[in-house]
Amino acid sequence: MLIYLVTVLACVSMQFQLFIPGKNWRLSLAELVSFLENRGIKFAMCSLSKEFFVVSTEEKVGASIIDDLGGTIKIGVSAADFSTEIVRSAFVQKDKEAQAQIVRDIVASGLVDEMFKSESERTLFGVSVYCAEKQLRSVYKVIQRFIGSSIKRELAGYGKKSKFMGFAKDRKLPQLSHIEVLKKNLVENKAEILFCVGREQTFVATTIAVHNPFEFQKRDVGKPVQRKIFAIPPRLARIMVNLAVCTKGKVVLDPFCGVGTILQEALLAKSKAIGVDINRWCVEATMRNLEWLKDEYALENAEYRVLQGDVHKLSQKIGWEQVDCIATEPDLGPALRQIPTTSYAVRIAEKLEPLYYGLLEEAYKVLKSGGRLVLVSPYIKARSGNPVTMGIEKKAVAIGFERVYPFKRGFFAEDAAVPENLISMASLIDAEERHKIGREIHVFQK
Ligand SMILES: C[S@@+](CC[C@H](N)C(=O)[O-])C[C@H]1O[C@@H](n2cnc3c(N)ncnc32)[C@H](O)[C@@H]1O
Repeated sequence: MLIYLVTVLACVSMQFQLFIPGKNWRLSLAELVSFLENRGIKFAMCSLSKEFFVVSTEEKVGASIIDDLGGTIKIGVSAADFSTEIVRSAFVQKDKEAQAQIVRDIVASGLVDEMFKSESERTLFGVSVYCAEKQLRSVYKVIQRFIGSSIKRELAGYGKKSKFMGFAKDRKLPQLSHIEVLKKNLVENKAEILFCVGREQTFVATTIAVHNPFEFQKRDVGKPVQRKIFAIPPRLARIMVNLAVCTKGKVVLDPFCGVGTILQEALLAKSKAIGVDINRWCVEATMRNLEWLKDEYALENAEYRVLQGDVHKLSQKIGWEQVDCIATEPDLGPALRQIPTTSYAVRIAEKLEPLYYGLLEEAYKVLKSGGRLVLVSPYIKARSGNPVTMGIEKKAVAIGFERVYPFKRGFFAEDAAVPENLISMASLIDAEERHKIGREIHVFQK
């Protein structure tokens, strides 16, 4: 029986932190709550939308956690919040008093004072608007220009010259990319303002951290041995490591290690890594990649070993109850040129069953009690429109695993509007438009 100790914090008189998720917001949210929970950080998710999450924590969460998360693009600290009703009056009804009130709130929040401290002669700053409220999306470019011009005027009042980063007309969303924020040093200069319009409440925040895509890219295409078709993206690998609670000192196993992408992320999370693959070439590739990672990231104390072996004999190779967590992606089926018929998709899934069932049985043996298994299985799109998935849960439960639901009610503040289908969601789907076979991500616990 799994017991969860989550204290629900109220979302009042606390510092709000804003998290801007990647494209797959459910995956980003699942990673974030797992990360916070398993580090013993007391938190409440106060508001959520696919554009941003508002989290209140008892203690401040450091900006550096951005490097530990695969699914978060920006982190901001809220300096002011007000009812979204005011934003609606200001920009839909064009009420001048409401507009003035918003400017007064931003000025009183001290955000502009922070920019005033910048040493450069001309402060460069940007405003990104994230909007969870459909009705306001039609005016969010207007909002962005209004906030930018107001801040510029305010800075001029202090005798400070500034340059407001405008956007080309064809930019779809009035948001700076993380790359722009990085290149213009906006984090260091506290010079990106996040204006996050929620359904009830609007938050004005300063960006304190942005995702560094160059680091993840380096681990993807900069490592010595690559294998494009089968390899998992490093950001997803990091999310899986976090869902599996592979934290400092824990022993992590990837029994289908390929070229070692998941193990790289596990080592960066300061876990000890064990890789297994049936293919000798993969074993050598993983060894080379992990050696490279150790040098590149100065991980002097990194501990890892990579073995050749078949998943069906995993417990003979590793021993019983030896590992704290498993994060893995077995074969997902053949490369498809077109979306298959349902019957072909079912055949693909059936053919993979022995491999997956073998993994579940052996994973249960090698895991320590309480250890987690994070497993990707295929999510096969079919011409009927109904994807075909594998009956992983039934088998896993029969062996003794319990499914870990990614979103527990206790993660959310009592008054937060949480979609019911989120709480009942058993697995996470990662399937882009272009993929014929996407990923279904499961979390199980022994
Ligand atoms: C989808 S790939 C894993 C990719 C890996 N996550 C990466 O980023 O490189 C699946 C791997 O499982 C290995 N494999 C297939 N059958 C296996 C088995 N029975 N036991 C162990 N490994 C196996 C393959 O050699 C392949 O490298």
